[in-house]
Amino acid sequence: MNQATLMNTYKRADVTFIRGEGEFLFDTDGKRYIDLLSGIAVVAVGHGNPRVAEAIAQQARNLVHVSNLFGTLPMRELSERIQSTTGGWGRVFFCNSGAEANECAIKLARKAGVGRRYRVLAAEGAFHGRTLASLACTGQPEKWKGFEPLPEGFVHRPYNNLDAFASALDDSFAAIMVEPIQGERGVIPGTTEFLKGLRDLCDRAGIPLIFDEVQTGVGRTGEWWAFQSMGVKPDIFTSAKGIANGLPLGACIADEPYGSVFVPGDHGTTYGGGPVVCAAAVAVFDEIEQLSLRAEAKRKGELLTSLLRNIPGVQEVRGAGLMRGVVLSSPVALQVVPKALSAGVVLNATSDSVLRLVPPLVISDPSLHEAVQIVAGVLAEAQRGDIGSSTAGVAAY
Ligand SMILES: Cc1ncc(COP(=O)(O)O)c(C=O)c1O
Repeated sequence: MNQATLMNTYKRADVTFIRGEGEFLFDTDGKRYIDLLSGIAVVAVGHGNPRVAEAIAQQARNLVHVSNLFGTLPMRELSERIQSTTGGWGRVFFCNSGAEANECAIKLARKAGVGRRYRVLAAEGAFHGRTLASLACTGQPEKWKGFEPLPEGFVHRPYNNLDAFASALDDSFAAIMVEPIQGERGVIPGTTEFLKGLRDLCDRAGIPLIFDEVQTGVGRTGEWWAFQSMGVKPDIFTSAKGIANGLPLGACIADEPYGSVFVPGDHGTTYGGGPVVCAAAVAVFDEIEQLSLRAEAKRKGELLTSLLRNIPGVQEVRGAGLMRGVVLSSPVALQVVPKALSAGVVLNATSDSVLRLVPPLVISDPSLHEAVQIVAGVLAEAQRGDIGSSTAGVAAY
């Protein structure tokens, strides 16, 4: 990869992938890798998925773009499919990314707050995206540096600390927004008590509860949406990543009254919800249904967790379904990642002591066994100090 032609936003690993198949990736030398990352929780139904590929090809031959001034069949079908996953509620706005889906949610809440209520109460450690408002909502001050002043009105309190959220809330707030499981922070699940408590706070204040399901959604945790296993219903939730298996699509889904807040002219996008990405997403929903991938995500998540827990040096495995954070007993995660890559396993680290595993939902049991064995070997080496301290090519996202 010629780094001089690209902006310096990522420390890229020294590998160029040219092909994928299911849970496998292949580089320019034909070397095979087991992908435990799926492009950071994106390629849910696997690389080169034939149903998705066929849907894309067919739609590309038929109709690629007409503008949101007109209706298209794939967008209509996808919005109906999304509604069927919630049991019938939610109007959808389609966009191109997770950050944009969150921008939409924030704008909805602000418009509903009619100027008086405009602040958003979010969580420390949260990740909501890189656009200016989603960055301001992101509870990681180190990512704000160099970009201030950020849009005003975002307040952060410790995740899973209901008292801290309750005491911060006043009538200047338009919404509470959290991830049901904090992904970039290291796969930290929200407790049921915390999330239910936020629901109560929002009900009492008359403001929307927004869940960012960009990483947790579309079957990843074993349900269509993570909130469905937590017994807490948001008013608004956002999706991206896994929804179109790697094509750029985001969605903001809002129950009433928030679903009817926008009127023409309030919000928009040229590409959002275009026919090709929506056709791909419909194929993703089909594939998840037909291969029972929600149940499989739960089952394989348990298998993966039990395998990982037996590895010396693993302190804790947390998360749900196939979204797992592996807490190491020593801070060697940034050394494990490049070494695992050389050994044929793709994963990443959210910090120096947490590995993140978010494989394609279609990964096979033998691949899970093989990958964990490789990671165990690499981890043992790292703990013995046999791996150098170079972290070139690796970065927490
Ligand atoms: C929870 C969450 N929200 C938002 C985003 C931003 O999504 P995108 O990179 O598509 O803008 C991410 C990306 O990692 C995410 O994990």
